[in-house]
Amino acid sequence: MRTQVGIIGAGPAGLLLAHLLHLRGIESVVLEARSREEIEATLRAGVLEQGTVDLLEESGVGERMRREGMLHEGVILRFGGLSHRVHLAELTGGRAITVYAQHEVIRDLVKARLDRGGQILFGVKDVSLLDLDTKLPKLRFHGADGAVREIACDYIAGCDGFHGVSRPSVPSRVRREYTRVYPFGWFGILVEAPPATEELIYAYHDRGFALVSTRSPQVQRLYLQCNPSDAPGDWPDGRIWDELHARLAGNDGFKLAEGRIFQKGVIAMRSFVVEPMQHGRLFLAGDAAHIVPPTGAKGLNLAVADVRVLAQALTGFYASGRSDLLERYSETALRRVWRAEHFSWWMTSMLHRFHDESPFHHRLQLSQLQYVAGSRAAATMLAENYVGLPFGEN
Ligand code: FAD
Ligand code: DHB
Repeated sequence: MRTQVGIIGAGPAGLLLAHLLHLRGIESVVLEARSREEIEATLRAGVLEQGTVDLLEESGVGERMRREGMLHEGVILRFGGLSHRVHLAELTGGRAITVYAQHEVIRDLVKARLDRGGQILFGVKDVSLLDLDTKLPKLRFHGADGAVREIACDYIAGCDGFHGVSRPSVPSRVRREYTRVYPFGWFGILVEAPPATEELIYAYHDRGFALVSTRSPQVQRLYLQCNPSDAPGDWPDGRIWDELHARLAGNDGFKLAEGRIFQKGVIAMRSFVVEPMQHGRLFLAGDAAHIVPPTGAKGLNLAVADVRVLAQALTGFYASGRSDLLERYSETALRRVWRAEHFSWWMTSMLHRFHDESPFHHRLQLSQLQYVAGSRAAATMLAENYVGLPFGEN
């Protein structure tokens, strides 16, 4: 088999890349280890930056998002028993976020590819990357039927997430990795309940962080800081509600609506970047190249930003034979990656309890929160990073 761009992974990065390339007349094949049902049911991110929303709309896959997604022009910081609104739109010239679940984006992108005759091979196994230093790199794998297959490509896009095979295929002597692991995780739940708030609440409390998000008028998404080694069984429903009520309590009458909890999961927190994001004819994009702790809501958005740059660079190559954009891919993408890494680390550090911290550190966190809540300059810094800097301005 032969294609122009071989893509490993049908997450947001791989699927959107395949779609953007198709719009520019470039052929690709996507290899995915899991089934279509599994990728369309995996619960993850929920917050789309303005640039992500614009790109999905411009590329013709934003129709359902526009109908079902929820536009939020502000976000709430809650501490000391009070809520403080950061007016995102006013501070950023009208930019905002849209709450629309990642698996809905996945469903829209899979449908767009399959409706247009695109190739996504689900259920493949043992993918290996060969001849990356040559002009004809190859992907070898077992198809869903068990047969060994090989695809020769001009280029390979490694969009297979943090635990994929692409990054380890880059020789360790040319890889530089930057890591930070946090001493806590997030416990995430889905609840059948009406929204408790019109905008997301990021809460800092002595007992730890809590986040109130939403999915629909009937389903809410809530997170709370937990021990990274906790399992769902450590958190019976009563304990979850006690913690959420305590961490969100205040003097302003705010009340979280309870409901039936129908999904529970623990999320690890880490920061990670590999440099460069390219080796020979392999380009890494999304979680394959970098991870952020979820506090800044940046992971999915960074995956989208990477493939936007990569699709432009590949278009330059196929349209006019220029390779300079491809050569600069890593440098261009990493500028935005490090901005998001810093923002995500900063939000995480400001909003979580570090259990080895001193009272001095706790006071610094409160002072930082008060400054963001009270200063237009500081709030603007949060707002422009949270809604996402315009592409090319980082
Ligand atoms: P992935 O989504 O991980 O996709 C990789 C794909 O590759 C998978 O489908 C996998 O099955 C496949 N694959 C892996 N290995 C192989 C292989 N060897 N062969 C073939 N296929 C393979 N980000 C935000 O922007 N906003 C948020 O609000 C947010 N909240 C989050 C909340 C949670 C609970 C979690 C877990 C994450 C959150 N994130 C958020 C992060 C976001 O979900 C990820 O950054 C995003 O999924 C990255 O997309 P990706 O396409 O790079 O990788
Ligand atoms: C959601 C996830 C995040 O990581 C975040 O910062 C905000 C919202 C969500 O799943 O809704």
